[in-house]
Amino acid sequence: MKKILALISTLAVVAGFGSAIADPYPEGCVSCHVQTEGADMRLSTLLEMKGHARGANRTVEVPTGCNRCHAPDGEGVAPSTRTLVHSIHFEYPLENTFVTQYGGECTHCHAMDGATGKAVIKTGKRNWEYHVGE
Ligand code: HEC
Ligand code: HEC
Ligand code: HEC
Repeated sequence: MKKILALISTLAVVAGFGSAIADPYPEGCVSCHVQTEGADMRLSTLLEMKGHARGANRTVEVPTGCNRCHAPDGEGVAPSTRTLVHSIHFEYPLENTFVTQYGGECTHCHAMDGATGKAVIKTGKRNWEYHVGE
């Protein structure tokens, strides 16, 4: 019995149960893709560097607003975000900094809705300025 209890408490610590470990990325994409003194990792900047059209910067709610073109069923003008975003963050896992430096957790982008038992995508407002006419 003692052994089982010890195991349970170890699991509890590992899973963070009962402790107030805050989610470091509560809004998913925009919580991690930020501008710091050292680097500008905002999606607006990264996508601009990749030559993405300005449609991305007009998006308000990230990443769900991107679905306007990146339709989840793959029928939009661009591939679904799930296809693009999963491969970007998990390609070459031994070298991919999302995995090597950020732990590669699904929960960095997804949250669990306990009531429905469904995994959902976390969202947040864009963290860049966009002026109409730009
Ligand atoms: C916990 C941090 C984190 C979160 C959350 C996150 N990313 Fe990333 N993202 C990264 C890292 C690290 C890289 C660089 C991966 C590599 O080494 O290629 C990256 C790369 C990217 C790139 C490629 C940029 C380039 O220059 O090639 C895009 C686009 C991107 N992420 C979009 C998203 C979107 C959209 C979301 C939300 C659905 C998201 N990311 C969530 C950390 C994160
Ligand atoms: C107005 C339409 C539109 C909107 C809105 C849009 N995109 Fe795109 N995106 C495109 C098109 C078109 C492509 C090119 C697809 C192709 O090459 O087949 C693309 C390509 C991409 C790529 C691949 C780039 C590469 O070089 O590999 C990423 C990543 C991406 N979009 C992320 C996003 C994110 C994140 C958002 C929301 C913040 C967004 N897009 C909003 C139309 C859009
Ligand atoms: C960097 C961000 C990111 C990470 C990390 C991530 N996902 Fe996703 N995932 C997305 C995005 C964006 C979508 C598309 C959401 C939408 O269509 O609105 C998605 C969609 C999905 C879907 C489809 C949901 C559905 O309704 O069909 C599944 C399943 C999924 N992810 C599983 C995973 C698993 C398992 C992991 C961890 C191994 C993971 N994801 C990690 C960004 C991420």
